[in-house]
Amino acid sequence: MPTKLIIGLQWGDEGKGKVVDSLVHDWADVCIRYQGGPNAGHTIYDNEGNKYVTHALPSGILKKGCLNIISKGCVIEPNNLFKEIKSFSFDNSLLKISSQCPLILPHHVLIDKLKYQSKIGTTAKGIGPAYSEYIARDNKTLHDLCFNFDELTNYIYNSLVALNQKYSDDHLNAFLESFINENSYATRLRSISYKDNLVEFLHHEYFEILNILRSTYSQYIIDSDKTIHELYKDKKNIILEGAQGWGLDIWGKSYPNATSSSPNVGGALTYTGLNHKQIDEVIGIVKVYKSKVGTGDFSTEWPDTHELHELRQRLGEYGATTGRPRRLGDLDLDEIKKACETNGVDTIVITRIDNVPDLPLLKLKHNNENIYFPKWKKEDEMKKEDLEDEKIKNFVKYFKEVTKIDKIGLSYGKKRKQLEWLL
Ligand code: IMP
Repeated sequence: MPTKLIIGLQWGDEGKGKVVDSLVHDWADVCIRYQGGPNAGHTIYDNEGNKYVTHALPSGILKKGCLNIISKGCVIEPNNLFKEIKSFSFDNSLLKISSQCPLILPHHVLIDKLKYQSKIGTTAKGIGPAYSEYIARDNKTLHDLCFNFDELTNYIYNSLVALNQKYSDDHLNAFLESFINENSYATRLRSISYKDNLVEFLHHEYFEILNILRSTYSQYIIDSDKTIHELYKDKKNIILEGAQGWGLDIWGKSYPNATSSSPNVGGALTYTGLNHKQIDEVIGIVKVYKSKVGTGDFSTEWPDTHELHELRQRLGEYGATTGRPRRLGDLDLDEIKKACETNGVDTIVITRIDNVPDLPLLKLKHNNENIYFPKWKKEDEMKKEDLEDEKIKNFVKYFKEVTKIDKIGLSYGKKRKQLEWLL
């Protein structure tokens, strides 16, 4: 079984990072992030309880000897990705990035902040504008950063100048300032007009940094389709790691309240160049309740009360990338069934089993009805033996019957080892 595809079956933040990290440590030689960008935040705890958060890097980065690939379906912001790379200590020869990755450039971040953050509650990381310019055949790729530098810098300059036709100087100046500050560029440029700011910023800071990054990225770039096929032929154990989830797929029913890529299986194939026969197991990740950030329909949502705020804090349900409070609701099995159908799911991992005692009720939606289950108890940290509880067994039995998925994993704590397969 050389290729396992990991997909979130809800609205992102199901706990994919933890599951990928556990599987990588048990089994994988290669971990491939196939879509999204720094909008994601995968939180991982090792067995000692140390916390790590990845945004654009694959979650295999913590396993020694694991080859990590960012495939062409991911959008990358060169400066922040470089900072993320530096923040982890790993063998640099074990990170590869597709030369075809579309770039997230300053004007993408500005457009996201100016328009889409308030429109649909995006993470404001420039994801949508970067993908849409790629689809329009305008955007630049990592290849351009490394080999067409002048063309790239002209493109950035012209795109930023063009924004001036749509937005006022004041608007742009404020956003450029916040971009400069948030990304820790020098602040000597403020309180002059956007155009002066822009020229100064680009020529004296941004392009200089990009120029340095050219040679840095040259050591990482690959033709990701080719490399992935070779690894597959060599029978390497490969994990394909999705970001976000089924509900946020750009071609899903929640459009336009969606991300700009396809976390679902079709996306995974396009973005890695693998064909459908080369995916040996699709593993869906489901949280025992559900959460969402951003606007749009969200069935089974819990009302916004004081108790909900307390519960959210207990569960730590705040965006790993933006810190925004997440909307929460009951597990919706009608949605999970659709997500399984779309993705041909073979296996499901249910996460946050240890958080059930924290919930006011263990309730789920099936066939548009509420189904109630007795909650289980836990003493401090949950252990493998605790999964023998009849209440957990009955809950899992019902889940299996409804989803018709027999292979279930239970994630019952934050640590790597707290994942049990029930076969
Ligand atoms: P974007 O991906 O930043 O364009 O945001 C589009 C929608 O996807 C918004 O509702 C975001 O909150 C949501 N989103 C993006 N990334 C994640 C994630 O990693 N987890 C959960 N929601 C996300």
